[in-house]
Amino acid sequence: MLTRVGVGTDDKKDAAEEKPDDDKSSRRSFMGGTGTAVIAGSLVASYGSFAAISARFAYPRPSKLVRLFVADLGTFAKGKSTQYETPKGAKVTITRHGESGSAADFIALSSVCPHLGCQVQWEQDKHRFFCPCHNGTFDPQGNPTGGPPKAANQVLSKFTLAVEGGLLFIELPEEELA
Ligand code: FES
Repeated sequence: MLTRVGVGTDDKKDAAEEKPDDDKSSRRSFMGGTGTAVIAGSLVASYGSFAAISARFAYPRPSKLVRLFVADLGTFAKGKSTQYETPKGAKVTITRHGESGSAADFIALSSVCPHLGCQVQWEQDKHRFFCPCHNGTFDPQGNPTGGPPKAANQVLSKFTLAVEGGLLFIELPEEELA
């Protein structure tokens, strides 16, 4: 006949042995939950950073424009041009075409030929910009009329102008100042 001896003791022992397992299990569960939360948080942060960087490239923040004095309107007659040099050394030809007294009277064009970067010159007698490197020509609005720039439809870059208090200003992106 079989007799079970110390059943109660074994049960207690089993229970005692099970407890650490329960602890381990709940610790594992806790760690698993925490780990998942940390990974999820990291992923959200990574994707958030990626989205922010992508947005910066897709929609770059516009540069702040700074106004720099060019001339007094009273000394700048219609049909005349002046050479302006930006703080970074870029040469700009500013020409007056009208007499309304607003910025619309003027046009400011880069003196850098869009073909290969030579300096264009304003030819008053021919009423055009001329690039001596490859005989490129542009009309007074900077549109190409001959040579390689015409073939490639390359225009002269324009700068924004403003008139305030009878004075003419050029507007440049902040990073062009230094
Ligand atoms: Fe001006 Fe070639 S660089 S036409």
